[in-house]
Amino acid sequence: MSKTTTSTNLELDLEHIWHGNLQHRGLAEKPPLEIVRGEGCYVYDADGRRYLDAMAGLFCVNVGYGRQEIAAAVAEQMGQLAYYPLTHTHRPAAQLAGRLAGLLPVGLGHVFFSNSGSEAVETAFKMARQYGRQAHPGQNRYKIIARHRAYHGFTLGAMTATGQILRKQAFEPLAPGFLHVPPPDPYRCLFCRREPGCTLACADEFDRVIRMEGLETVAAVIVEPVIGGGGIFPAPEGYLERLREICDRYDVLLILDEVITGFGRTGRLFGCEHAGVRPDIMTLAKGITSAYLPLAATVATDRVFKAFQSETDDRAKFIQVTTFGGHPSSCAAALANLEILTRERLWENSARVGAYLLERLRALESPWIGDIRGRGLLIGIELVADRESRTPLAEAQMVRIQRAIRDAGVMIGRNNDTVPGLCNVLILSPPLILSHEQADLIVGAIEIGLAGVAG
Ligand SMILES: Cc1ncc(COP(=O)(O)O)c(C=O)c1O
Repeated sequence: MSKTTTSTNLELDLEHIWHGNLQHRGLAEKPPLEIVRGEGCYVYDADGRRYLDAMAGLFCVNVGYGRQEIAAAVAEQMGQLAYYPLTHTHRPAAQLAGRLAGLLPVGLGHVFFSNSGSEAVETAFKMARQYGRQAHPGQNRYKIIARHRAYHGFTLGAMTATGQILRKQAFEPLAPGFLHVPPPDPYRCLFCRREPGCTLACADEFDRVIRMEGLETVAAVIVEPVIGGGGIFPAPEGYLERLREICDRYDVLLILDEVITGFGRTGRLFGCEHAGVRPDIMTLAKGITSAYLPLAATVATDRVFKAFQSETDDRAKFIQVTTFGGHPSSCAAALANLEILTRERLWENSARVGAYLLERLRALESPWIGDIRGRGLLIGIELVADRESRTPLAEAQMVRIQRAIRDAGVMIGRNNDTVPGLCNVLILSPPLILSHEQADLIVGAIEIGLAGVAG
Protein backbone atom coordinates (compact mmCIF):
# COMPACT_ATOMS: atom_id res chain seq x y z
CA MET A 1 0.00 0.00 0.00
CA SER A 2 1.31 3.47 -0.80
CA LYS A 3 2.49 5.82 1.91
CA THR A 4 -0.33 8.24 1.17
CA THR A 5 -3.05 5.70 1.95
CA THR A 6 -1.43 4.39 5.15
CA SER A 7 -0.37 7.74 6.63
CA THR A 8 -2.71 10.17 8.32
CA ASN A 9 -3.16 13.60 6.78
CA LEU A 10 -1.27 15.14 9.67
CA GLU A 11 1.68 12.78 9.19
CA LEU A 12 1.78 13.62 5.51
CA ASP A 13 1.53 17.30 6.30
CA LEU A 14 4.39 17.24 8.79
CA GLU A 15 6.50 15.25 6.36
CA HIS A 16 5.78 17.16 3.18
CA ILE A 17 3.93 20.47 3.48
CA TRP A 18 6.12 23.52 3.86
CA HIS A 19 3.93 26.06 5.66
CA GLY A 20 4.62 29.77 5.41
CA ASN A 21 5.13 31.84 8.58
CA LEU A 22 5.36 28.69 10.67
CA GLN A 23 8.44 27.31 12.44
CA HIS A 24 8.54 23.65 11.49
CA ARG A 25 10.97 22.69 14.22
CA GLY A 26 8.82 21.35 17.04
CA LEU A 27 5.66 21.51 14.93
CA ALA A 28 4.82 17.88 15.76
CA GLU A 29 4.31 18.91 19.41
CA LYS A 30 1.82 21.63 18.48
CA PRO A 31 0.62 20.54 15.06
CA PRO A 32 -1.75 22.50 12.82
CA LEU A 33 -5.43 21.61 13.02
CA GLU A 34 -6.86 19.54 10.20
CA ILE A 35 -9.93 21.48 9.13
CA VAL A 36 -12.43 19.24 7.37
CA ARG A 37 -15.65 21.20 6.95
CA GLY A 38 -17.14 24.67 7.02
CA GLU A 39 -20.69 25.92 7.52
CA GLY A 40 -21.73 29.55 7.95
CA CYS A 41 -19.29 31.19 10.38
CA TYR A 42 -17.96 27.86 11.66
CA VAL A 43 -15.23 25.42 10.67
CA TYR A 44 -14.81 21.90 12.06
CA ASP A 45 -11.60 19.97 12.69
CA ALA A 46 -10.96 16.26 12.16
CA ASP A 47 -11.86 15.55 15.80
CA GLY A 48 -15.25 17.16 15.29
CA ARG A 49 -14.42 20.31 17.26
CA ARG A 50 -16.21 23.43 16.12
CA TYR A 51 -14.54 26.83 15.85
CA LEU A 52 -16.13 30.18 15.13
CA ASP A 53 -13.84 31.48 12.40
CA ALA A 54 -13.45 35.12 13.42
CA MET A 55 -10.86 35.58 10.65
CA ALA A 56 -13.02 34.32 7.75
CA GLY A 57 -10.02 32.21 6.74
CA LEU A 58 -7.61 35.01 5.89
CA PHE A 59 -9.99 37.99 5.75
CA CYS A 60 -11.76 36.40 2.80
CA VAL A 61 -14.76 34.07 3.31
CA ASN A 62 -17.11 37.06 3.31
CA VAL A 63 -20.37 35.20 2.56
CA GLY A 64 -19.50 32.39 4.97
CA TYR A 65 -18.81 28.71 4.38
CA GLY A 66 -21.03 26.13 2.70
CA ARG A 67 -22.81 28.23 0.07
CA GLN A 68 -24.03 25.52 -2.28
CA GLU A 69 -25.09 28.04 -4.89
CA ILE A 70 -21.44 28.99 -5.51
CA ALA A 71 -20.43 25.32 -5.73
CA ALA A 72 -23.25 24.65 -8.22
CA ALA A 73 -22.30 27.65 -10.40
CA VAL A 74 -18.70 26.44 -10.53
CA ALA A 75 -19.70 22.84 -11.34
CA GLU A 76 -21.91 24.05 -14.19
CA GLN A 77 -19.16 26.27 -15.58
CA MET A 78 -16.59 23.48 -15.41
CA GLY A 79 -18.94 21.16 -17.29
CA GLN A 80 -19.44 23.74 -20.03
CA LEU A 81 -16.04 25.37 -20.44
CA ALA A 82 -13.36 24.31 -17.97
CA TYR A 83 -10.82 26.78 -19.23
CA TYR A 84 -9.96 29.28 -21.86
CA PRO A 85 -7.45 32.12 -21.57
CA LEU A 86 -8.34 35.77 -22.02
CA THR A 87 -6.45 35.86 -25.31
CA HIS A 88 -10.09 35.70 -26.44
CA THR A 89 -13.08 36.15 -24.19
CA HIS A 90 -15.75 34.10 -22.40
CA ARG A 91 -19.06 34.74 -20.72
CA PRO A 92 -18.06 34.48 -17.04
CA ALA A 93 -15.15 36.95 -17.36
CA ALA A 94 -17.15 39.41 -19.48
CA GLN A 95 -20.16 39.24 -17.16
CA LEU A 96 -17.97 39.65 -14.09
CA ALA A 97 -16.07 42.63 -15.50
CA GLY A 98 -19.40 44.29 -16.27
CA ARG A 99 -20.75 43.44 -12.81
CA LEU A 100 -17.69 44.89 -11.09
CA ALA A 101 -17.87 48.07 -13.17
CA GLY A 102 -21.49 48.44 -12.03
CA LEU A 103 -20.63 48.01 -8.34
CA LEU A 104 -17.45 50.10 -8.21
CA PRO A 105 -17.37 53.92 -8.03
CA VAL A 106 -18.38 55.34 -11.44
CA GLY A 107 -15.49 55.45 -13.90
CA LEU A 108 -13.57 52.47 -12.54
CA GLY A 109 -14.41 50.28 -15.47
CA HIS A 110 -11.36 48.50 -16.91
CA VAL A 111 -10.62 45.18 -15.26
CA PHE A 112 -7.41 43.15 -15.52
CA PHE A 113 -7.91 39.72 -13.94
CA SER A 114 -5.24 37.76 -12.07
CA ASN A 115 -5.17 35.12 -9.33
CA SER A 116 -4.13 36.61 -6.01
CA GLY A 117 -3.94 39.90 -4.18
CA SER A 118 -0.18 39.96 -4.68
CA GLU A 119 -0.60 39.66 -8.42
CA ALA A 120 -3.29 42.36 -8.46
CA VAL A 121 -0.85 44.69 -6.68
CA GLU A 122 2.07 43.82 -9.01
CA THR A 123 -0.23 44.52 -11.94
CA ALA A 124 -1.18 47.91 -10.46
CA PHE A 125 2.50 48.86 -10.09
CA LYS A 126 3.27 47.87 -13.66
CA MET A 127 0.26 49.79 -14.96
CA ALA A 128 1.28 52.86 -12.95
CA ARG A 129 4.85 52.82 -14.22
CA GLN A 130 3.88 52.34 -17.85
CA TYR A 131 1.16 54.98 -17.47
CA GLY A 132 3.70 57.40 -16.00
CA ARG A 133 5.96 57.05 -19.00
CA GLN A 134 3.19 57.20 -21.59
CA ALA A 135 1.20 60.03 -20.02
CA HIS A 136 4.31 62.08 -19.23
CA PRO A 137 6.72 61.63 -22.16
CA GLY A 138 10.26 62.56 -21.22
CA GLN A 139 9.70 61.95 -17.51
CA ASN A 140 10.70 58.83 -15.62
CA ARG A 141 7.91 58.23 -13.15
CA TYR A 142 8.67 54.94 -11.46
CA LYS A 143 8.71 55.48 -7.70
CA ILE A 144 5.89 54.07 -5.59
CA ILE A 145 5.18 55.50 -2.14
CA ALA A 146 3.58 53.17 0.41
CA ARG A 147 3.24 53.15 4.20
CA HIS A 148 4.96 51.45 7.06
CA ARG A 149 2.88 48.68 8.63
CA ALA A 150 0.83 48.14 5.45
CA TYR A 151 0.66 44.76 3.72
CA HIS A 152 0.48 44.42 -0.05
CA GLY A 153 1.59 40.85 -0.82
CA PHE A 154 4.42 38.33 -0.93
CA THR A 155 5.79 38.77 -4.47
CA LEU A 156 8.89 40.91 -4.87
CA GLY A 157 7.26 44.25 -5.77
CA ALA A 158 4.25 43.87 -3.49
CA MET A 159 6.53 42.68 -0.67
CA THR A 160 8.81 45.68 -1.16
CA ALA A 161 5.78 47.99 -0.97
CA THR A 162 4.77 46.20 2.23
CA GLY A 163 5.86 48.28 5.21
CA GLN A 164 6.69 45.34 7.46
CA ILE A 165 10.40 44.69 7.73
CA LEU A 166 9.98 41.28 9.36
CA ARG A 167 8.25 40.06 6.19
CA LYS A 168 11.11 41.34 4.01
CA GLN A 169 14.52 41.33 5.61
CA ALA A 170 15.42 37.72 4.79
CA PHE A 171 14.91 38.39 1.10
CA GLU A 172 16.92 41.55 0.53
CA PRO A 173 17.86 43.15 -1.78
CA LEU A 174 14.31 44.22 -2.46
CA ALA A 175 12.90 45.86 -5.60
CA PRO A 176 14.21 49.38 -6.21
CA GLY A 177 11.94 52.43 -6.38
CA PHE A 178 9.77 52.00 -3.27
CA LEU A 179 9.48 54.52 -0.43
CA HIS A 180 7.50 54.51 2.81
CA VAL A 181 5.80 57.10 5.01
CA PRO A 182 4.30 56.56 8.49
CA PRO A 183 0.74 55.23 8.72
CA PRO A 184 -2.12 56.98 10.49
CA ASP A 185 -1.94 55.64 14.05
CA PRO A 186 -3.77 57.89 16.52
CA TYR A 187 -2.77 55.62 19.44
CA ARG A 188 0.95 56.03 18.73
CA CYS A 189 0.82 59.15 16.55
CA LEU A 190 4.19 60.58 15.51
CA PHE A 191 2.73 63.91 14.44
CA CYS A 192 -0.23 65.51 16.20
CA ARG A 193 -0.88 63.46 19.32
CA ARG A 194 -0.47 66.59 21.42
CA GLU A 195 -2.63 68.79 19.19
CA PRO A 196 -6.31 69.32 20.03
CA GLY A 197 -7.39 67.36 16.93
CA CYS A 198 -5.97 65.30 14.06
CA THR A 199 -4.11 67.57 11.61
CA LEU A 200 -3.68 64.88 8.94
CA ALA A 201 0.04 65.59 9.00
CA CYS A 202 0.57 61.87 8.28
CA ALA A 203 -1.28 62.31 4.96
CA ASP A 204 0.80 65.41 4.19
CA GLU A 205 3.90 63.21 4.43
CA PHE A 206 3.04 61.96 0.94
CA ASP A 207 3.17 65.54 -0.34
CA ARG A 208 6.53 66.12 1.32
CA VAL A 209 8.08 62.90 0.01
CA ILE A 210 6.79 63.46 -3.54
CA ARG A 211 8.35 66.94 -3.61
CA MET A 212 11.61 65.82 -2.00
CA GLU A 213 11.97 62.90 -4.41
CA GLY A 214 11.17 65.04 -7.44
CA LEU A 215 7.63 64.77 -8.67
CA GLU A 216 8.70 63.77 -12.16
CA THR A 217 10.01 60.53 -10.65
CA VAL A 218 6.90 59.41 -8.74
CA ALA A 219 4.41 57.08 -10.44
CA ALA A 220 1.97 56.22 -7.68
CA VAL A 221 0.94 56.08 -4.07
CA ILE A 222 -0.57 52.87 -2.65
CA VAL A 223 -2.67 52.60 0.49
CA GLU A 224 -5.21 50.26 2.06
CA PRO A 225 -8.34 52.19 3.18
CA VAL A 226 -7.86 50.30 6.45
CA ILE A 227 -4.45 48.73 7.05
CA GLY A 228 -5.45 45.12 7.69
CA GLY A 229 -2.89 42.44 8.47
CA GLY A 230 -0.47 45.10 9.73
CA GLY A 231 -2.65 45.82 12.76
CA ILE A 232 -5.94 47.52 11.71
CA PHE A 233 -5.41 51.23 11.11
CA PRO A 234 -8.47 52.85 9.52
CA ALA A 235 -7.83 55.97 7.45
CA PRO A 236 -8.90 58.88 9.69
CA GLU A 237 -11.63 61.24 8.55
CA GLY A 238 -10.36 63.40 5.70
CA TYR A 239 -7.22 61.30 5.13
CA LEU A 240 -8.13 59.71 1.79
CA GLU A 241 -9.60 63.01 0.59
CA ARG A 242 -6.29 64.75 1.41
CA LEU A 243 -4.39 62.00 -0.37
CA ARG A 244 -6.60 62.39 -3.44
CA GLU A 245 -5.84 66.14 -3.52
CA ILE A 246 -2.10 65.51 -3.24
CA CYS A 247 -2.12 62.92 -6.02
CA ASP A 248 -4.16 65.22 -8.27
CA ARG A 249 -1.78 68.10 -7.59
CA TYR A 250 1.18 66.14 -8.98
CA ASP A 251 -0.62 63.76 -11.36
CA VAL A 252 0.59 60.84 -9.26
CA LEU A 253 -1.75 57.84 -9.45
CA LEU A 254 -3.66 56.83 -6.34
CA ILE A 255 -3.81 53.05 -5.96
CA LEU A 256 -6.24 51.81 -3.33
CA ASP A 257 -5.49 48.27 -2.22
CA GLU A 258 -8.95 46.96 -1.38
CA VAL A 259 -7.90 43.30 -1.23
CA ILE A 260 -9.27 43.13 2.33
CA THR A 261 -11.55 46.15 2.48
CA GLY A 262 -13.44 45.35 -0.74
CA PHE A 263 -16.78 43.54 -0.85
CA GLY A 264 -18.38 44.68 2.38
CA ARG A 265 -15.66 44.12 4.95
CA THR A 266 -15.71 47.70 6.36
CA GLY A 267 -19.47 48.23 6.34
CA ARG A 268 -19.64 49.69 2.83
CA LEU A 269 -19.27 47.73 -0.39
CA PHE A 270 -15.78 49.22 -0.86
CA GLY A 271 -13.58 50.93 1.72
CA CYS A 272 -13.16 54.06 -0.40
CA GLU A 273 -16.90 54.77 -0.14
CA HIS A 274 -16.46 55.99 3.46
CA ALA A 275 -14.49 58.91 2.07
CA GLY A 276 -16.21 59.26 -1.30
CA VAL A 277 -12.79 59.01 -2.94
CA ARG A 278 -12.24 57.29 -6.27
CA PRO A 279 -8.77 55.86 -6.85
CA ASP A 280 -7.10 55.73 -10.26
CA ILE A 281 -6.43 52.02 -9.79
CA MET A 282 -8.03 49.61 -7.33
CA THR A 283 -6.82 46.14 -6.40
CA LEU A 284 -9.31 43.44 -5.44
CA ALA A 285 -9.07 39.76 -4.39
CA LYS A 286 -10.24 37.71 -1.36
CA GLY A 287 -13.92 38.71 -1.03
CA ILE A 288 -14.36 38.83 -4.81
CA THR A 289 -15.09 35.08 -4.66
CA SER A 290 -15.26 34.83 -0.84
CA ALA A 291 -12.23 32.59 -1.50
CA TYR A 292 -14.35 29.78 -2.98
CA LEU A 293 -11.80 29.91 -5.82
CA PRO A 294 -8.71 32.08 -6.41
CA LEU A 295 -9.29 35.30 -8.33
CA ALA A 296 -8.08 38.89 -8.24
CA ALA A 297 -8.61 42.05 -10.25
CA THR A 298 -6.84 45.32 -10.92
CA VAL A 299 -9.35 47.93 -12.02
CA ALA A 300 -8.40 51.19 -13.72
CA THR A 301 -10.23 54.37 -14.66
CA ASP A 302 -10.85 55.52 -18.22
CA ARG A 303 -8.01 58.05 -17.91
CA VAL A 304 -5.47 55.37 -17.03
CA PHE A 305 -6.83 52.93 -19.62
CA LYS A 306 -6.77 55.51 -22.42
CA ALA A 307 -3.04 56.11 -21.95
CA PHE A 308 -2.51 52.55 -23.24
CA GLN A 309 -4.40 53.11 -26.52
CA SER A 310 -2.48 54.06 -29.61
CA GLU A 311 -3.19 53.79 -33.33
CA THR A 312 0.48 54.13 -34.10
CA ASP A 313 2.50 52.55 -31.31
CA ASP A 314 1.78 48.88 -30.58
CA ARG A 315 4.10 48.99 -27.58
CA ALA A 316 1.70 51.35 -25.81
CA LYS A 317 -0.50 48.34 -24.91
CA PHE A 318 -0.22 46.77 -21.46
CA ILE A 319 2.11 43.84 -22.00
CA GLN A 320 1.26 41.15 -19.48
CA VAL A 321 -0.03 37.60 -19.88
CA THR A 322 -1.48 35.36 -17.18
CA THR A 323 -2.49 31.73 -17.72
CA PHE A 324 -5.08 31.52 -14.98
CA GLY A 325 -6.17 35.15 -14.60
CA GLY A 326 -9.90 35.42 -15.27
CA HIS A 327 -10.32 31.65 -15.10
CA PRO A 328 -13.92 30.85 -16.13
CA SER A 329 -14.63 28.78 -13.01
CA SER A 330 -13.26 31.49 -10.70
CA CYS A 331 -15.33 34.12 -12.51
CA ALA A 332 -18.43 31.91 -12.18
CA ALA A 333 -17.70 31.62 -8.44
CA ALA A 334 -17.31 35.41 -8.22
CA LEU A 335 -20.61 36.04 -10.01
CA ALA A 336 -22.49 33.67 -7.68
CA ASN A 337 -20.70 35.18 -4.67
CA LEU A 338 -21.57 38.75 -5.70
CA GLU A 339 -25.17 37.68 -6.23
CA ILE A 340 -25.30 36.51 -2.59
CA LEU A 341 -23.42 39.54 -1.27
CA THR A 342 -25.72 42.03 -2.99
CA ARG A 343 -28.97 40.06 -2.46
CA GLU A 344 -28.29 39.84 1.27
CA ARG A 345 -26.72 43.33 1.40
CA LEU A 346 -23.99 41.92 3.61
CA TRP A 347 -22.10 45.22 3.93
CA GLU A 348 -25.06 46.42 5.99
CA ASN A 349 -24.74 43.49 8.38
CA SER A 350 -21.03 44.16 8.49
CA ALA A 351 -21.72 47.77 9.59
CA ARG A 352 -24.42 46.77 12.09
CA VAL A 353 -22.79 43.78 13.76
CA GLY A 354 -19.34 45.39 13.45
CA ALA A 355 -20.54 48.42 15.45
CA TYR A 356 -22.06 46.10 18.06
CA LEU A 357 -18.87 44.02 18.32
CA LEU A 358 -16.76 47.17 18.68
CA GLU A 359 -19.05 48.46 21.42
CA ARG A 360 -18.98 45.15 23.32
CA LEU A 361 -15.20 44.94 23.07
CA ARG A 362 -14.80 48.54 24.28
CA ALA A 363 -16.88 47.66 27.33
CA LEU A 364 -14.44 44.89 28.33
CA GLU A 365 -12.50 45.65 31.45
CA SER A 366 -8.99 44.35 31.07
CA PRO A 367 -5.72 46.04 32.01
CA TRP A 368 -4.16 44.61 28.86
CA ILE A 369 -6.36 46.44 26.36
CA GLY A 370 -4.58 49.55 25.10
CA ASP A 371 -6.64 50.44 22.04
CA ILE A 372 -9.58 49.04 20.10
CA ARG A 373 -10.14 50.25 16.56
CA GLY A 374 -11.92 49.16 13.44
CA ARG A 375 -14.46 49.70 10.73
CA GLY A 376 -17.29 47.28 9.98
CA LEU A 377 -16.22 43.71 10.65
CA LEU A 378 -12.51 44.54 10.61
CA ILE A 379 -11.34 45.16 14.16
CA GLY A 380 -8.01 45.34 15.98
CA ILE A 381 -7.34 45.07 19.71
CA GLU A 382 -3.91 46.43 20.67
CA LEU A 383 -2.64 44.83 23.87
CA VAL A 384 -0.22 46.52 26.25
CA ALA A 385 1.68 45.49 29.37
CA ASP A 386 1.03 48.91 30.87
CA ARG A 387 -1.67 51.34 29.81
CA GLU A 388 0.20 54.44 30.96
CA SER A 389 3.41 53.83 29.01
CA ARG A 390 1.63 51.89 26.24
CA THR A 391 4.40 49.28 26.34
CA PRO A 392 3.36 46.48 23.96
CA LEU A 393 2.44 43.16 25.56
CA ALA A 394 5.26 40.62 25.26
CA GLU A 395 5.30 38.12 22.40
CA ALA A 396 4.94 35.07 24.67
CA GLN A 397 1.81 36.51 26.24
CA MET A 398 0.34 37.38 22.85
CA VAL A 399 0.88 33.79 21.72
CA ARG A 400 -0.70 32.45 24.91
CA ILE A 401 -3.76 34.69 24.59
CA GLN A 402 -4.37 33.78 20.97
CA ARG A 403 -4.05 30.09 21.87
CA ALA A 404 -6.44 30.42 24.83
CA ILE A 405 -9.03 32.12 22.60
CA ARG A 406 -8.73 29.26 20.13
CA ASP A 407 -9.12 26.75 22.95
CA ALA A 408 -12.31 28.63 23.84
CA GLY A 409 -13.58 27.85 20.32
CA VAL A 410 -12.81 31.05 18.38
CA MET A 411 -10.15 31.54 15.70
CA ILE A 412 -8.74 35.05 15.67
CA GLY A 413 -5.75 36.62 13.95
CA ARG A 414 -2.77 38.72 14.96
CA ASN A 415 -0.29 41.05 13.23
CA ASN A 416 2.55 38.63 13.91
CA ASP A 417 5.89 38.87 12.07
CA THR A 418 5.23 42.41 10.88
CA VAL A 419 7.33 45.11 12.59
CA PRO A 420 9.74 44.70 15.52
CA GLY A 421 8.13 45.11 18.94
CA LEU A 422 4.64 45.93 17.73
CA CYS A 423 3.14 42.55 16.86
CA ASN A 424 0.67 43.11 19.67
CA VAL A 425 -2.63 43.53 17.84
CA LEU A 426 -5.31 40.84 17.90
CA ILE A 427 -7.34 40.90 14.69
CA LEU A 428 -11.00 40.10 14.02
CA SER A 429 -12.36 39.74 10.50
CA PRO A 430 -15.27 37.27 10.66
CA PRO A 431 -17.64 36.35 7.82
CA LEU A 432 -20.02 39.21 7.06
CA ILE A 433 -23.01 37.03 8.02
CA LEU A 434 -21.97 37.18 11.69
CA SER A 435 -24.96 37.43 14.07
CA HIS A 436 -25.13 39.42 17.30
CA GLU A 437 -25.07 36.13 19.24
CA GLN A 438 -21.93 35.04 17.41
CA ALA A 439 -20.37 38.45 18.16
CA ASP A 440 -21.10 37.72 21.84
CA LEU A 441 -19.32 34.35 21.51
CA ILE A 442 -16.23 36.12 20.14
CA VAL A 443 -16.25 38.63 23.00
CA GLY A 444 -16.68 35.83 25.54
CA ALA A 445 -13.69 33.90 24.17
CA ILE A 446 -11.52 37.04 24.15
CA GLU A 447 -12.52 37.71 27.75
CA ILE A 448 -11.40 34.18 28.68
CA GLY A 449 -8.13 34.64 26.77
CA LEU A 450 -7.32 37.96 28.46
CA ALA A 451 -8.25 36.68 31.92
CA GLY A 452 -5.57 34.00 31.60
CA VAL A 453 -2.68 36.49 31.24
CA ALA A 454 -0.34 36.52 34.21
CA GLY A 455 0.38 40.05 35.48
C1 LIG B 1 -4.21 44.53 1.55
C2 LIG B 1 -3.64 43.30 0.93
N1 LIG B 1 -3.10 43.35 -0.30
C3 LIG B 1 -2.60 42.28 -0.90
C4 LIG B 1 -2.60 41.05 -0.29
C5 LIG B 1 -2.02 39.86 -0.98
O1 LIG B 1 -3.02 38.95 -1.30
P1 LIG B 1 -2.69 37.40 -1.60
O2 LIG B 1 -2.36 36.77 -0.29
O3 LIG B 1 -3.97 36.90 -2.21
O4 LIG B 1 -1.55 37.38 -2.56
C6 LIG B 1 -3.17 40.92 0.98
C7 LIG B 1 -3.20 39.61 1.66
O5 LIG B 1 -3.55 39.47 2.80
C8 LIG B 1 -3.68 42.07 1.62
O6 LIG B 1 -4.18 42.01 2.86
